[in-house]
Amino acid sequence: MGYRVVVVGATGNVGREMLNILAERQFPADEVAVLASRKSLGTEVTFGETTLKTQDLDTFDFAGWDMALFAIGSDATKKYAPKAAAAGCVVIDNSSLYRYDPEVPLIVPEVNPQAVHRYSKKNIIANPNCSTAQMVVALKPLHDRAKIKRVVVSTYQSVSGSGKDAIDELWDQTKAVYNPTSDVPPKVYTKQIAFNVIPHIDVFLDDGSTKEEWKMVAETKKIVDPSIKVTATCVRVPVFVGHSESINIETEDFLDEDEARDILREAPGIMVIDKREDGGYVTPIECVGDFATFISRIRQDSTIENGLNMWCVSDNLRKGAALNAVQIAELLGREVLKKG
Ligand SMILES: NC(=O)c1ccc[n+]([C@@H]2O[C@H](COP(=O)([O-])OP(=O)(O)OC[C@H]3O[C@@H](n4cnc5c(N)ncnc54)[C@H](OP(=O)(O)O)[C@@H]3O)[C@@H](O)[C@H]2O)c1
Repeated sequence: MGYRVVVVGATGNVGREMLNILAERQFPADEVAVLASRKSLGTEVTFGETTLKTQDLDTFDFAGWDMALFAIGSDATKKYAPKAAAAGCVVIDNSSLYRYDPEVPLIVPEVNPQAVHRYSKKNIIANPNCSTAQMVVALKPLHDRAKIKRVVVSTYQSVSGSGKDAIDELWDQTKAVYNPTSDVPPKVYTKQIAFNVIPHIDVFLDDGSTKEEWKMVAETKKIVDPSIKVTATCVRVPVFVGHSESINIETEDFLDEDEARDILREAPGIMVIDKREDGGYVTPIECVGDFATFISRIRQDSTIENGLNMWCVSDNLRKGAALNAVQIAELLGREVLKKG
């Protein structure tokens, strides 16, 4: 007997990717229900070889369903996730709503799988922010070996991280540059994203940082180790899919770049592509549709005693969202629910 699984937000970027990954990884699902808002009622979405019709989240009864993978915004999650959890369906949530709740585990299965056992307080498990997920997969094995003290990270985040309207905005603005009669003013973003970069993701905080930057700090501490200091600059770039990060780490013990490369080669979820030659590194367009987090440009930072630099790229709709959520579902099944 397998699981009865609900995908909430199935018409969105992350929801569709969840369905693809559940099928690709042959998740032991006996039945899959797909939900979205009322306006999408009856919209068809693909799950493996089959087509499913979208149902209305507002009237759906979660009783008898084992798990629900949520990929809708925080406001709607606030209304519907407690309803699903109260009906006995374990919620795996992609929004930021529950990530910092001490009663909700925040999980990246390669890093802190043991946290899954704390799901039962609220019947909810949180999925991290896309830029945090790929970074912590790379940090964890290096932290285990040399204890990371401080991380300085700059991100280059694709527009798919802001949902389907943002993808349209980049597409339409890019076309408009070649057609002087049309003008596509920014709606999702504060400034033109086509042929531009924007050093602003999520809202500004009192200290001048943005909420996206704060998320990377708070989530790294919750998932890996509260003692790690993180400072981040998060930037939106005109890339459709795939987030990139320049990561600088300072460790307590010395870690040689060759050893770091070997450690990362052995680490779960990581693929090292690091040839010191033209093209011997990974760019976002090459990681689309892949499960791995790719690491390139591993090198010593000679300005401090124990420092390393690296380049980290991953498909934000996969490891940054849908894949991680499906991995949590697999973990929950394996360790806790034990069906299938
Ligand atoms: N994209 C990423 O890289 C990423 C990474 C990590 C986390 N997340 C989070 O994942 C969530 C989804 O992101 P996305 O990129 O997939 O967004 P998206 O492409 O804009 O899709 C949003 C989905 O949510 C549904 N929805 C919105 N409001 C709803 C409501 N009131 N009731 C029912 N369904 C509702 C939409 O249904 P309709 O089509 O019917 O409107 C659609 O299926 C967000 O919380 C986001 O922060 C995204």
